[in-house]
Amino acid sequence: MTVAPSAPILFFDSGVGGLSILAPARAMLPTASIVYAADSAGFPYGTKSEAEIAARVPALLGRLVERYRPRLAVIACNTASTIALSHVRAALDIPVVGTVPAIKPAALASKSRVFGVLGTDATVRQPYVDRLAAEHGADCIVLRHGCAALVELAEAKLRGELLDPAIARAALAGLTDQPGGDAMDVVALACTHFPLVQDELAAAALQNIGRPLTFVHGGEGIARRIAFLTQGQAWPAAPSPGIAVFTRVDDKVRALAPALAEYGLGRIDQL
Ligand code: DGL
Repeated sequence: MTVAPSAPILFFDSGVGGLSILAPARAMLPTASIVYAADSAGFPYGTKSEAEIAARVPALLGRLVERYRPRLAVIACNTASTIALSHVRAALDIPVVGTVPAIKPAALASKSRVFGVLGTDATVRQPYVDRLAAEHGADCIVLRHGCAALVELAEAKLRGELLDPAIARAALAGLTDQPGGDAMDVVALACTHFPLVQDELAAAALQNIGRPLTFVHGGEGIARRIAFLTQGQAWPAAPSPGIAVFTRVDDKVRALAPALAEYGLGRIDQL
């Protein structure tokens, strides 16, 4: 099937986290039309049950695909991907790229063989994470911590609010305070919100443990996957402003407008 040059790439997350996936993809495919969808009415996902996420995400993706006719959809959310990726793939007739916790790159990067997985509560308890840890980090101590406050911190940062440094410090302490945690050298940012507060996490590492940590996440790998799956397709000749679509538009969403514009999203829609 021929894909129209204007057919967008759809990114989906509960909130602004997927922007950490959108940014490297835009850098690789600079003229691609972009629709960035955030389920603000369902945010946050990390404290929801598997059943709620598995019911909500495929239904929303179905509506978004019907409205925007994307060439490809990216679930730019670890929580939604680890729980609902197969349901979404079954429901849609376009390629769907998921966001897998960056456990393989973390295991490759760790010299001490102790690394952390920082995600949402829902993600860190998934059997999917057990499987990745067994496959790639069998010789490692894999520490996990779920941190809802860090998701809120990323949202607040993009709204331009003043941030409390204690939140990033507490998130890291959730890993380093576990047995073996004093040797941890790498942290997989297994929630797409967390690369948005990587500077705050790096500062927290210096304050908490007096040494830097290596942070890894899946953004670059996903950009390469999108480029591979769309190889040979036509793209617009020049970039155009992308669309940010929210399931609920309120003052918190409106406060994101300047940050969204920096990511090339010039219009806000409501689903
Ligand atoms: N950004 C999401 C993730 O990657 C979820 C954040 C949330 O809604 O709790 O897991």
